[in-house]
Amino acid sequence: MKYTLDYQKYAELARRVAAEGSVLLRNEEDTLPLRRGQRVSVFGRTQFEHYKSGTGSGGMVNAPYVTNIIDSLKENGIIQVNEALEQVYREWLKEHPFDVGEGWAMEPWNQEEMPVDEELAVQAAGQSDAAIVVIGRTAGEDKDNSAAEGSYLLTALEEELLRNVCHAFEHTIVVLNVGNIIDMKWVDRYQPQAVLYIWQGGQEGGRACVDVLTGKVNPGGKLSDTIAEDIEDYPSTENFGDPVENFYTEDIYVGYRYFETFAKEKVKYPFGFGLSYTKFQTEILGFSVQGTAVTAVAKVTNVGGVSGRETVQLYLEAPQGKLGKPLRQLTAFAKTEELKPGETEELLLKTELAEYASYDDSGVTGHKSCYVLEEGDYIFYAGTDVRSAAEAGKATLTELRVVRMVTEAMAPVQEFKRLKPFFFEEKDHAIANWEDVPLRTIDLADRILKERPTQSEYAGDRGWKLADVSDGKITLEQFLTQLSDEDLICMTRGEGMCSPKVTPGTAAAFGGVTEGLKRFGIPIACCSDGPSGIRMDCGTMAYALPNGTLLACTFDPELVEELYEMEGMELRKNKIDTLLGPGINIHRNPLNGRNFEYFSEDPYLTGTMAAAQLTGMGKYGVTGTIKHFACNNQEFKRHDANSIVSERALREIYLRGFEIAVKQGGAYSIMSTYGPVNGLWTAGNYDLLTTILRKEWGYQGIVMTDWWAKINEEGEPGSGRQTIPMVRAQNDIYMVVADAASNSAGDNTAEGLADGRLTRAQLTRNAANICGFLLRSVAMERFLDREEEECTELHNPISTEGAGESGQVLARLELPEPKILEDIELPLEKLSTKKGTSAVFQLHFPRIGRYELVFRMSSTLGELAQLPISVFLNNTLQQTVTLNGTEGQTMERVVTLPIRQDGEKYMKLYFGESGIDMHRMFLRYVGKNDIESFRNE
Ligand code: BGC
Repeated sequence: MKYTLDYQKYAELARRVAAEGSVLLRNEEDTLPLRRGQRVSVFGRTQFEHYKSGTGSGGMVNAPYVTNIIDSLKENGIIQVNEALEQVYREWLKEHPFDVGEGWAMEPWNQEEMPVDEELAVQAAGQSDAAIVVIGRTAGEDKDNSAAEGSYLLTALEEELLRNVCHAFEHTIVVLNVGNIIDMKWVDRYQPQAVLYIWQGGQEGGRACVDVLTGKVNPGGKLSDTIAEDIEDYPSTENFGDPVENFYTEDIYVGYRYFETFAKEKVKYPFGFGLSYTKFQTEILGFSVQGTAVTAVAKVTNVGGVSGRETVQLYLEAPQGKLGKPLRQLTAFAKTEELKPGETEELLLKTELAEYASYDDSGVTGHKSCYVLEEGDYIFYAGTDVRSAAEAGKATLTELRVVRMVTEAMAPVQEFKRLKPFFFEEKDHAIANWEDVPLRTIDLADRILKERPTQSEYAGDRGWKLADVSDGKITLEQFLTQLSDEDLICMTRGEGMCSPKVTPGTAAAFGGVTEGLKRFGIPIACCSDGPSGIRMDCGTMAYALPNGTLLACTFDPELVEELYEMEGMELRKNKIDTLLGPGINIHRNPLNGRNFEYFSEDPYLTGTMAAAQLTGMGKYGVTGTIKHFACNNQEFKRHDANSIVSERALREIYLRGFEIAVKQGGAYSIMSTYGPVNGLWTAGNYDLLTTILRKEWGYQGIVMTDWWAKINEEGEPGSGRQTIPMVRAQNDIYMVVADAASNSAGDNTAEGLADGRLTRAQLTRNAANICGFLLRSVAMERFLDREEEECTELHNPISTEGAGESGQVLARLELPEPKILEDIELPLEKLSTKKGTSAVFQLHFPRIGRYELVFRMSSTLGELAQLPISVFLNNTLQQTVTLNGTEGQTMERVVTLPIRQDGEKYMKLYFGESGIDMHRMFLRYVGKNDIESFRNE
């Protein structure tokens, strides 16, 4: 494949997306956009330290640069920045540097703010026409937000800053550089003239923000979540954060589905809302129903003074029937092109009623385990947010229709009550009614046993290679008869982090990971985080893209697809077959730390955006791994906290985005979740991964676990070694083990085969899923040398030569004449293991041979912390090793260094995350062994 990766175009596109996803919530007196020549004072330290993303695996892209707001304002030059104030901040920042925290999940939610007293505010106001106040927040993996000051709420210093600035200035613009919605009560308290959410916009975030502030881009973004008055107003808040059991009592009433049905008055900014610098008039021109297909035509006219884009959304109110329904469900949306003042565009909004059928998990309609459309009026509302959408037309069903008959799956086993609307008098306002959640009635063990495949022959090596399958010479089934049980077991193991068998610094290698598998011509595929750019822990740089929430707020899947085409090229260029993303969990509660990676509280918007990304990347032969399947809705105790949720809520809300990504986006790689759902850890959850995913949805791709996930047999505790239920459920790959051939961490697949708890046929089925993925991968073409790859790179600002800065030489050592297995100590005195630092040792090797570099270290962090160290020799990456948090225990990691020539070498260590306590580092000579041969390598 020939393609051109033009980084300038990539950056421009990322910038445009970041600007278009910005949401303007308030703009009194037309404060925005800023006008040429206006004088502006910029407050808040985040103007200098832009949050490109949240934290954890989804935030570890080594971006070549990150633009910030202040420099972008000055670069832009349209307005005049108050440089005296800027200088005050710069001086203060010298004494108050950015606190990255002690490693994984330890970066604080906010950074200490510079105090701004009345005097400073008044002084600045005297020299300026307007103020911009930038507020920043982060959160992420292993670190939820908190309903506390500094996270969901403002700090006392931020309150003071806003109070003083809003008081002193006639025009104050508040810019929110946050991963997720935050509490907005301060808007009433201080009444700033303008409020703009810019989310976390990736490396171009600063510039994109300035494009919006100065009106180069008219913000067309719409909220992908409801902003309620108070965090307590979200019905999931009550149960969010429970370390053991999280009851989803709000059931299908998530986000606006809840607020529009039960608590309209608690909404501050409705779902779908966002202002523009111009005004639009929307008119419904037509509405038609054919069978269950619904079409509305909306005419949008720009009646304001500047160009802009508008999004029209189509919501459904289904009849309450016996099941009860939310008063609104998003069923379609469409966005205009850029309309000049006076211009008009007609938008087509199409939907299919059957897609919004309700799932009857109790049998109350007489159709248990069916998707049904109950009889009555299906009223559609069109508009520019959920609240103001006006009636557009209706479809009427005179009798109930069964749309799909499926089978009960994943039902809970614990009793609890769920919310259901009850309409007393007012048609548009329900009161809460609580009903028992239907519990599981099927015998799961029996289902698994009955459905288990039994036939699978072992024929031994017949000389076939996987390429013979792609060339149509043999079938995949025939091919797999050659693999021994041992081979099949090895194929269920993904190797990582940072396997040397694939692109350095990536999350895992999978497929032909052992010599045995390679013999059959099975290639090794590579995956890496995601979702907002490529994470390569050895320091290799990649583009950092806008976060998931921002992408959703564009309401523009075509634009997102275009951006992810570029991402697809970048993946392909880096020899990565699948990005670990998009993250498509539902924003169930604003406090989830990973909301920044996910799109929305709405499953249709979520699925549509995921499908767009997959389509984009798919154009370059690579794909994304949609994650985390399913219910990764809280980070706290994410390995163990049990999500207890009704089958209806699963199907209509939590699985729905995945279903869309599979059916419309053609997803063929999925990651299961860490935690259990209804008592079964998802990586071994048969009904999730086989009954629903494969049998119902017809999915044919792979499923991988999340990294070091747990699995269980029903009623038993979860464990990373319990791979029997994983294989049985068709979670094809366990991520990750250090060495797939032996898996020293241990799993019990072989034991299961030996005692009959597993069959060879089950393992073969998983191998077929994996080979299916490989057969369509670029890894396969590459393995066969059939790939005629030609990537032309233009305007590349990215250095591929290892970590950012080159690092300081800490010591020069003349290594002694080596003796086998004698340790040569490396000095630790000046070593810093802080995130992003490099340390260089200048070493004189008296002889060729293999040396081992041994790190003896510990970390007080928990075992899910990922702390990578990359080792370079003369700027060439040798290996990246990852220490997981050890909770204080000392562990070793070893990197082998082949010294092909004696003499001077620079050995650079690059630390990708803070949190490592290094106790000892030493070199150990392990001999010359095959040194003569590798001299010529
Ligand atoms: C995260 C995943 C990620 C994986 C690999 C896990 O900790 O939950 O989303 O893809 O690590 O980095």
